[in-house]
Amino acid sequence: MLINAKAVSFLLGVCVAVITFMFLSLLNTVSGTVLFVAAAISFSSTFILSYVVLEFLVFKEIQKVYASLDKVTKKELRDYNKGKEDETINPIKKINQQIAAYITKKEKEIDDLKQIEAYRKEFIADVSHELKTPIFAAQGYVLTLLDGAMDDEKVRHRFLKKAAKSLNGLDALVQDLLTLSQIESGVISMHYEIFDLQSLVMDVFEQLERKAEKKTIQLRLEKTFDEGVYVNADYNRITQVLINLISNAVKYGNFNGWVAVALTETKKKIKVEIKDNGPGIPKEHIDRIFERFYRVDKSRSKKQGGTGLGLAIAKHIIEGHNSKITIKSEINEGTVFTFHLEAAN
Ligand SMILES: Nc1ncnc2c1ncn2[C@@H]1O[C@H](COP(=O)(O)OP(=O)(O)OP(=O)(O)O)[C@@H](O)[C@H]1O
Ligand SMILES: [Mg+2]
Repeated sequence: MLINAKAVSFLLGVCVAVITFMFLSLLNTVSGTVLFVAAAISFSSTFILSYVVLEFLVFKEIQKVYASLDKVTKKELRDYNKGKEDETINPIKKINQQIAAYITKKEKEIDDLKQIEAYRKEFIADVSHELKTPIFAAQGYVLTLLDGAMDDEKVRHRFLKKAAKSLNGLDALVQDLLTLSQIESGVISMHYEIFDLQSLVMDVFEQLERKAEKKTIQLRLEKTFDEGVYVNADYNRITQVLINLISNAVKYGNFNGWVAVALTETKKKIKVEIKDNGPGIPKEHIDRIFERFYRVDKSRSKKQGGTGLGLAIAKHIIEGHNSKITIKSEINEGTVFTFHLEAAN
């Protein structure tokens, strides 16, 4: 609908003219000519008066406000106005639309910033905590040695070994953090090569055999391919992902359980699934499980030596291979991690 100063003034003029006409026609003494002249005068005077007021005092100013708002927000609000664009040229309605879109956009930006800020705070607190623990432990052993424990050869050896263990943990943590930030900032790129994923899985099983035996957990490949399963991927990084996923399944799995890896050939991809019949991960934790330092049961994972970086690294490595890692988990039934790699056969 065309709403501008002219149209509004015209409508007002017509209304006033009709009212004047009807009112005067009630009087018997007024002739037809007078009636029409009076209607014409009231129409033109109302039209001119309201046109001047609306055009110069209201619409023109609103158009100016709109024009400046439009300049500021045109690009920014394109996404937010999608679908809401009204054909109207009513400037007040347009301004309303623009302001509503602007508010929605700003609210979303503020929410995002708040969330990033919360994550940042949490991350710094986590890093400090994780760094502090091994540093304090190593510091404690060294200070005790300096305080005299050094003279006892047995104690000296034991404490130095413990201090070295803490420092090794610290080194592993810093390495993990570095890897994460390098992958995130794109410094590290993937070194693609063709290799047999099936024999890599068997190698990882071998590496983790002792840990699995301690909990009598059986490690198995669901189906074996005589000719192997060749993929085009970064050998070292995929090894890192498999070690973390399989060792997680062992670490957090139940005694006498199993961990199975299934390799499935699909069109141009190899589907990799790491399954266990462990305790599962509660639904409320699933969304956050790939975040840095996130652990379901902080105290239990801590006892098992985890820092909560393994899955964050795995996620980034898999994303670096243009794939996605997904998780399905049922309490008391088990967990399945799935991702795809480019097939090379
Ligand atoms: N297969 C699984 N079954 C049950 N819980 C799991 C499983 N895999 C991971 N989790 C939970 O997810 C958390 C995050 O795993 P992640 O591998 O990122 O860290 P971590 O194993 O604690 O430490 P890191 O891998 O750095 O040594 C674990 O602490 C554990 O609570
Ligand atoms: Mg882990």
